Amino acid sequence: MERLPGFRDFYPEPLPHKDVWSADARQHIFGKWREAARRYGFREYDGPPLEPLELFTTKSGDEIVGQLYNFVDKGDRAVALRAEMTPTLARMVAAHERNYKKPIKWFAIPQLFRYERQQKGRLREHFQFNADIIGETDPAADAELISLLIDSLRALELTAEDFVVRLSSRNAWQDYFSTRCHDHAKAYEFYQAIDKLERTPPEESQKKLAELGFSLDEVNQFINSGQPTAELKAILDNLAARGLGDFVKVDYHVIRGLAYYTGPVFEAFDRKSELRAIAGGGRYDNLVKLISGGKVNLPALGFGMGDVVLLELLQARNLLPPFDATTDVFVLIEDESLRPQSLKLIHDLRAAGFAVDYALTPAKPDKQFKRAQELKANYTAKLDNDAYVRIRNLKTREEVVAGVNGAANYLR
Ligand code: HAM
Repeated sequence: MERLPGFRDFYPEPLPHKDVWSADARQHIFGKWREAARRYGFREYDGPPLEPLELFTTKSGDEIVGQLYNFVDKGDRAVALRAEMTPTLARMVAAHERNYKKPIKWFAIPQLFRYERQQKGRLREHFQFNADIIGETDPAADAELISLLIDSLRALELTAEDFVVRLSSRNAWQDYFSTRCHDHAKAYEFYQAIDKLERTPPEESQKKLAELGFSLDEVNQFINSGQPTAELKAILDNLAARGLGDFVKVDYHVIRGLAYYTGPVFEAFDRKSELRAIAGGGRYDNLVKLISGGKVNLPALGFGMGDVVLLELLQARNLLPPFDATTDVFVLIEDESLRPQSLKLIHDLRAAGFAVDYALTPAKPDKQFKRAQELKANYTAKLDNDAYVRIRNLKTREEVVAGVNGAANYLR
């Protein structure tokens, strides 16, 4: 049985095949994400992986809706695997916002599903670090969030030479659009054409924009002017004050494909622009209101950072540490009559926090020792009798005999 295209198997290292993914690398990345979120005072939340289809068709926009993994369940409900976390977050916040002081700062690491054409950096399933701030309109919140984005990448040893956050504004594009076109129904179509500019042949973009009453040259002029709006300037100054100025630049190519964004938007890319976006986000001040049917109105902003492109970048820069299994102690049971006492020793050492392994069933001493070496254990421990244990450092080959009850202390 094969796995479905666009889905991944995660194996412990060393990896058995180049076509599989590292469970260790994934855990490494999740750990750094969680740690960065903690340093910024974000609390972790989660929601269901399956949601009513309607949650996504409300406001995510055609691009995501076209990629939904949806079906009708046995109770005749139209449902979809979550394609992004933001609608779920908006629903959860709207339901219980009174219980939380503002601004709410939450993060999650959901697995998301999109029925995309499988390509480099894009799969049908990925994990995404989501961090969002709810209940604050000031650009200080945008800067705080972008700072977290930058620091979560820096925590993985990436530098300003490896990635850049391209900062833009839906407001700037909205102004651009509405001074030239009065048909608001066309705005989202226009944003989508801008979003695709860099990935579409110029003739095609020219044609699309002309249909909407715009010229590609003029649009390019606006992008190249790169003048930050007052709002973007406030964000840039805030980041510069932290010493993060090198990590961010204004770039009006960015507009974001999702329909719900309302203000500053941004995307993180590798510096050489060889890979797809590492992360993307922005303000979505109307989504909570929309999803709550007008009951709750809270400004919000956030970003999502995927694990797929990030892993490609970390691999390309050689920034993944070696992932060895860590066995502190391998307990050798050479005399089967001492197995009960050995099990007690193993249990006590584990209770003291050590990673301990041993042969589950009787095995020859040389086989047990070989297994200890394969596991790269730091120590072996072997009971001489029920009172004394022989502890051997496998690197220095130093050996000591300790009282059974003193073994944990000695190892510490
Ligand atoms: P997004 O731009 O659709 O935004 O996704 C964010 C990131 O998730 C992308 O930059 C990319 O790294 C990763 N990603 C997206 N689709 C795939 C895929 N098919 N395969 C691999 N990686 C992928 C959002 O989802 C917004 N909800 C983010 C957000 C949170 N905005 C506000 N709060």
